Amino acid sequence: MKNKREDIINLYAKHVSPGKVETYRKYDITFVPGPREECILCDIDGRKFINCHCNGGVFNLGHRNQKVIRAVIGAMKVYDIGNHHLISKPKAECAALLASMMPKGLNQVVFGVSGGEAIDLAIKLARGVTGRSGIISAKGGYHGHTGFALATGDAKFKDKFGSMPPAFSQVAFDDIGAMEKAVTDDTAAVILETVPATMGIVVPEKTYFSRVKKICEDRGALLILDEVQTGFGRTGKMWGFENFKVLPDIVVLGKGMSGGIYPISATVYHERYADFFRKDPFVHISTYGGSEIGCFAAMETIKISKSAKLLSNVLKMGNYFKKEFARLSMRYPNLGLKVRGIGLMMGLEFKDEMTALFILKLLFDEGVYLVYSGNDPRVLQFLPPLIITMPVAKRIIAAAHTAFAKMG
Ligand SMILES: Cc1ncc(COP(=O)(O)O)c(C=O)c1O
Repeated sequence: MKNKREDIINLYAKHVSPGKVETYRKYDITFVPGPREECILCDIDGRKFINCHCNGGVFNLGHRNQKVIRAVIGAMKVYDIGNHHLISKPKAECAALLASMMPKGLNQVVFGVSGGEAIDLAIKLARGVTGRSGIISAKGGYHGHTGFALATGDAKFKDKFGSMPPAFSQVAFDDIGAMEKAVTDDTAAVILETVPATMGIVVPEKTYFSRVKKICEDRGALLILDEVQTGFGRTGKMWGFENFKVLPDIVVLGKGMSGGIYPISATVYHERYADFFRKDPFVHISTYGGSEIGCFAAMETIKISKSAKLLSNVLKMGNYFKKEFARLSMRYPNLGLKVRGIGLMMGLEFKDEMTALFILKLLFDEGVYLVYSGNDPRVLQFLPPLIITMPVAKRIIAAAHTAFAKMG
């Protein structure tokens, strides 16, 4: 078994990514996922891990959710990818279901394959309907690595790729004064994650988004909220923005929408902009965007995610983790642990990057898998599956206790 595992790692290094393999080997955290079920992701050598990252929300419903699998298998008996030029029953029904879950007016849907693609479309739409070019994003935010999405990001991600599209700028997140200064009569849109994950799971002040929306409205710009990580129940509400009493003009969805089974993403926008695509319905095209099979994965995912039982579990377990991590932070003050987040979108901030990385490795050794925030490595992203139960949660806290004791 060990040899077979080494063979896979070597083959991956040879043909996919030698750099990733070198990095994981260096930190002794090579992980080759094999069997997976609900909260558990096993290495192919049989070691069990509790998945506390879930690919930023892809596995909100756990691994291989059986209801989503049944929906996809059922769809495969009748459908295929579909033809993006033609009218489609699954697309129509999936869009209608999404619209029924959104605030009034946010009822127009363009499907994509990935979050980045859906972000690109949101920016195209904002530029198209306003006739302006300015796009303002948050320093340290992250919206993907495709064209316009990449242009919203930090320099370190785009420096190597030559000149970017013009008129993209960044401001500090949760700084209303900075936003006030940045939005001008040439701003097409402000784009923000509801809770920026790569920045370090930063929860803004309660009125931040409604104030940003007001600034946008006053100057004729649109507000795009990126719900790629916060959507589908992650914060204990169906959409993260429901925690902030704000009505975005465009909402971007991805990751969890797939149920972890079949890729699909969406850009949902207000009906007042529908004319843009009416005039030129072929101005944006994606062959696999909203594949018919993906629509079935999404519809089942939405049905499960909107259930009161799931959403209340998110709040209950989120409170449990907050309380337990706060208790551990008092017990091990040397770690400088601060806990933040909403629902099961949590950030564990340690006193410095080194401490966070050691804790990550110690947790890995205890069978808990999570990652750090790319733009603030002091923060471990803690995003367990939303279906997590109390016995599994207790195992995570026990593992954290062991890891913290070794460092504290
Ligand atoms: C908040 C956010 N937006 C957009 C994206 C891009 O999604 P994708 O990787 O599917 O293109 C990500 C991916 O991590 C994300 O976290």
